[in-house]
Amino acid sequence: MQTYQAIKHLHMSCAAFSVSFFILRFIWMLRGSSMLQQRWVRIVPHVVDTILLASALTMVYWSGQIPFQQTWLGAKVVALLVYIVLGSIALKRGKTSQSRALAFVAALLVFSYIVAVAMSRQVLLF
Ligand code: HEM
Repeated sequence: MQTYQAIKHLHMSCAAFSVSFFILRFIWMLRGSSMLQQRWVRIVPHVVDTILLASALTMVYWSGQIPFQQTWLGAKVVALLVYIVLGSIALKRGKTSQSRALAFVAALLVFSYIVAVAMSRQVLLF
């Protein structure tokens, strides 16, 4: 049980780091900073996202839950994919600064939705 709690904390820390580092990279992108081209800046998000997912899957396995039977877990998986796609539009794929800004705001909204689903265990929050 203690190990489960430790994995859950690791999961939440990775989630917090993921969104904070996303915001920082967006600021660097706006400033045209060369930081975005640094090797570690490009690698760290993949490492953190891998740990985030691995810890999620460990908890899913240990708690005997099946993502698409437990709709809130399925919703988290889908929303995570949407968050990743919006994040890549915000940081590189968006053609105009307006579309990047829009994708940035949408990614933050989707992230907030994931946290709300995690805490309430409900897909529809209202
Ligand atoms: C950006 C993506 C994610 C964020 C921000 C996030 C956030 C969180 C948070 C805040 C908690 C703690 C909830 C609480 O106990 O109050 C949590 C727990 C959990 N998350 Fe995630 N999560 C994400 C992705 C995922 C994914 C993709 C899955 C499933 C495949 C998942 C599965 C779980 C599970 C199983 C728990 C433990 C629930 C429990 O036993 O209390 N998470 N997550």
